[in-house]
Amino acid sequence: MRLFLDTANVEEIRRACEWGVISGVTTNPSLMAREKADPDAALREITSLVKGPVSAEALSLDCEGMVEEARRLARVADNIVVKLPMGVEGLKAVGRLKREGIKTNVTLVFSANQGLLAAIAGATYVSPFVGRLDDISHDGMGVVRQLAAIFSRYEMDTQIIAASIRHPLHVVEAALAGSDIATVPFKVLEQMVRHPLTDIGIERFLADWKGLMAARSRGAGG
Ligand code: E4P
Repeated sequence: MRLFLDTANVEEIRRACEWGVISGVTTNPSLMAREKADPDAALREITSLVKGPVSAEALSLDCEGMVEEARRLARVADNIVVKLPMGVEGLKAVGRLKREGIKTNVTLVFSANQGLLAAIAGATYVSPFVGRLDDISHDGMGVVRQLAAIFSRYEMDTQIIAASIRHPLHVVEAALAGSDIATVPFKVLEQMVRHPLTDIGIERFLADWKGLMAARSRGAGG
């Protein structure tokens, strides 16, 4: 199980990389728009900070346009993975890009059938959107579970990225469901680190240690 950071914010990526727990990054047009930066410049910076795969999304709606965009994105850095939307055009582009050696991440996957098609087409990664399914009262993690069972049973190479992660429990559930990767917003990564009992424990240890040192120095003085 690996963790990717789901952001286009360079500062968040820089900070998370220092923790040593992030092995890739996923971006999307909405995340890019939030940063208001030049997308190509941002991608160049992100791909230089992160050694692992960095997903960047193609925005064309037809296969030909997607392939052209993917070639351009792939030239930005060796670790670029091109995100393609699920659909007929996306599937066609996946196969062509695979033959050219360009890695793909099929995004906006909301059912096991969509994920299965993407894997058969040759996608490197598929991204089931857990949170957006939960939002409409569907079992988002159920799709991850089904895909993990299918890919394992038929020994398919495509890796699952549990996406649209909303809270730390999603990450635990994704790991238990057999997801290869969970891509998490920085806020969720921070929440994963913290536990109130850890904070209380540290405080208590420090207080006891101070007490011990004070007692010893009083003893030495007397
Ligand atoms: C990642 O690949 C997705 O683009 C992202 O997780 C979507 O998350 P959201 O549903 O919170 O926008």
